[in-house]
Amino acid sequence: MSSITPRYSRITGTGSYLPPNRVSNEALAAQLARDGVETSDDWIVERTGIRARYFAAPDVTSSELAVHAARHALEAAGRTAADIDLIIVATSTPDMVFPSTACILQNKLGAFGAAAFDVQAVCSGFVYGLTIADSMIRSGAATRALVIGAEVFSRILDFKDRTTCVLFGDGAGAVVLEASDQPGILATDLHADGRHVEILCVPGNVSGGQVLGDPLLKMDGQAVFKLAVGVLESAARAVLHKAGRSEADIDWLIPHQANIRIMQSTARKLKLPMDKVVVTVAEHGNTSAASIPLALDVAVRRGQVKRGDTVMLEGVGGGFTWGAVLLDY
Ligand code: UT7
Repeated sequence: MSSITPRYSRITGTGSYLPPNRVSNEALAAQLARDGVETSDDWIVERTGIRARYFAAPDVTSSELAVHAARHALEAAGRTAADIDLIIVATSTPDMVFPSTACILQNKLGAFGAAAFDVQAVCSGFVYGLTIADSMIRSGAATRALVIGAEVFSRILDFKDRTTCVLFGDGAGAVVLEASDQPGILATDLHADGRHVEILCVPGNVSGGQVLGDPLLKMDGQAVFKLAVGVLESAARAVLHKAGRSEADIDWLIPHQANIRIMQSTARKLKLPMDKVVVTVAEHGNTSAASIPLALDVAVRRGQVKRGDTVMLEGVGGGFTWGAVLLDY
């Protein structure tokens, strides 16, 4: 009887990119004050842990941020664009209505012929994209994937709404995920509950050459907060259970970077000390689908996440969507 070698997927390189314009809370507060919108560094830090975010220049698109992050990830993996046969871009701020940002990125990278598409799961997008890439690699449909989260959320912020405009920033993060006979990704868990569409949305659309409805972000922060702390715990427990691991096996928790208080609450529930949680929200703000791969790349390059570490990635956001990926790095 011939034995079949199991096929897994494994991250072989990470990369990220932030646009050069760092905007501190103080600078943002001063800019908002000119339009009569009142906020302060103290409020933003105390309620969210955010101290700064990066804003892309008006002509810089998600694919432009993504191309830098992707090149860094390819370099870290020792691969070139020609080695890639799958490109998944998670974004809610695509360059165009169509084609996908993944196809635009493919053209910039020169990874011609690879399957390329976008995933729209808002702040859970990277976890969704990574899960799809893992499934395609394990099934044999792909061998080497680029999975990217890239956002220019500054384009969809209402700078008259202080409850949202202080929270978000722009950026991109990427991984190269490759077929391997060793895991790699150990377990994944994705969910959505469309009953909560309205608590976090950009309700506008394009029709007949006009924007129909409101094209700016709306959020019921407290409703999102409450749902987020519940689902981040349940998704974490689900992937641990699927992988036959326990909380004690987690070396690093990398949750979606929206609010330090949500991360602290999740860590408490999982009995993890905060020094096992990668926190980049202070410097990046909430970069939606880019936040997890950005944080992963920062942690890898800082020497925190090392080969062989067990890492839990957790996304949560509009939809309402959420999910987790447990992996051995
Ligand atoms: O990426 C998807 C996931 N998104 C999230 O996870 C976001 C989840 N939600 C949150 O992180 C928090 O709910 C927020 C950071 C959005 C808000 O924090 P909060 O502790 O829930 O504050 P709040 O909404 O209860 O507002 C408290 C007060 C209010 O004033 P009153 O009613 O108490 O007088 C707000 O008007 O803070 C006021 N406020 C502000 N003050 C200064 C709201 N935004 C600001 C602001 N500056 N920027």
